[in-house]
Amino acid sequence: MQPCCRDGVNHNDLRAMANKKFELKDPSSGKTSELLVRSGTIGPDVVDIGSLTKDHGVFTFDPGFMATASTESKITYIDGDQGVLLYRGYPIEQLAAQSSFIEVAYLLNNGELPNPKRLADFSVSIQRHTMINESLLRMYNGFHYDAHPMAMVSAIVASMSAFYHDSMDINNPRHREIFMHRIIAKLPTIAAAAYKRSVGQPFIYPRNDFDYCSNLLHMYYAVPCEPYHVDPLAAQALDLLLILHADHEQNASTSTVRLAGSTGANPYAAISAGVSALWGPAHGGANEAVLEMLEEIGNVDNIPKFLVQVKDKQSHVRLMGFGHRVYKNFDPRAKIIRDMCYRVLAKMGRTDNPLLELAQRLEEIALKDDYFISRKLYPNVDFYSGIIYSALGIPRSMFTVMFAIARTAGWVAHWQEMISDPAYKIGRPRQLYTGAVKRDYVPIGKRG
Ligand code: CMC
Repeated sequence: MQPCCRDGVNHNDLRAMANKKFELKDPSSGKTSELLVRSGTIGPDVVDIGSLTKDHGVFTFDPGFMATASTESKITYIDGDQGVLLYRGYPIEQLAAQSSFIEVAYLLNNGELPNPKRLADFSVSIQRHTMINESLLRMYNGFHYDAHPMAMVSAIVASMSAFYHDSMDINNPRHREIFMHRIIAKLPTIAAAAYKRSVGQPFIYPRNDFDYCSNLLHMYYAVPCEPYHVDPLAAQALDLLLILHADHEQNASTSTVRLAGSTGANPYAAISAGVSALWGPAHGGANEAVLEMLEEIGNVDNIPKFLVQVKDKQSHVRLMGFGHRVYKNFDPRAKIIRDMCYRVLAKMGRTDNPLLELAQRLEEIALKDDYFISRKLYPNVDFYSGIIYSALGIPRSMFTVMFAIARTAGWVAHWQEMISDPAYKIGRPRQLYTGAVKRDYVPIGKRG
């Protein structure tokens, strides 16, 4: 086989062998080699292609990672066909019903559920790391009043690296642990400061005597001129939303954190890269886009017209909050969020919410429509989350920030898992080059 031949992959014959090896045969040279098949604890096997380039001079080609496991991981498992999501082996339904976000953050990062003392110590440590440096706070004034909060959050998170030189040795496990505590503790403060900047109100300092979500809501809604009482139901609903969003294996933002972190970049820079990747409407930005979509549809009578647009490929309109790369069945998080939506709105006496009604009808109609059935498109985590965030008074531009607060727990867990693996390498994908072949530079005077 020629090194880097353009069509080498197409000529190859890849077939499973009974002894859990793949035999790879290049018909042009007749050369064969065996690729090891690796099995995880659950889930599909993977073919280890590490030796492919060395043995055959070809790369694999898989834009969008449709069939590629980018890493080995022990953190989160998804079975997209069955609609299963496990954090460290624990079903999301059980965690949602019985755990707390802080306990889930501990679990994701430490691998096991904490005993009471460990949980208490972890909670206290998170509660005591909530303040951010005053110079960081002043940076918010540099943003225009209508800056998107995600822009502020990603910039401030990256800037944190300028303040913690004492604990940024990525090879030191204690430094990594301090980082984990700091970033989980400070994300709500960073988010709240972005919110206050966008509404022109004074920043409210964190309250270390409050639990994670009560503190978050207090920083959002309290003002210096009067007392503010956090609604325990709102704090509880928010805690559940954070649990559901805390991790989702190798999604785009988590993979971004891993890739940025694989260069040895400081962890604040890696998490900031994750925040930026999350922002897109195909990923965490979908919760904001769902509400925009519902408002655009306006009322139930307009659903059929809207769905005609969705099915027209030329329109580039998508049913936001529907579809998922991995789930080809109900997203288990969407089911929990939908139930929670009813409960939260009922307890708040707001069951006559027209957006909820519209979302329900839209879901019902889409789930009976052949376009969505044949493509296995179901509601995902973002379909109902925006409605709950709205009911909690969180403005639309902050929805993706809420997602970022939750996902930080997962991002750090993945970053730690990668860095603590002695065999980790810089992530460096290759490409199928389709540009110009080598040619000589033409001086400007000789160009037509
Ligand atoms: N509305 C209409 N058609 C869709 C949708 C949708 N929401 N999602 C997928 N499709 C169609 C798509 O047009 C394609 O059709 P065809 O085979 O005829 O070309 C087929 O379904 C497969 O779609 P895909 O884009 O190839 O699938 P993907 O795995 O690359 O994309 C996705 C997954 C989540 C980006 C996509 O489903 C989507 O854009 N959904 C809307 C945005 C959204 O809700 N994102 C949140 C995802 S969950 C939370 C998170 O990850 O942060």
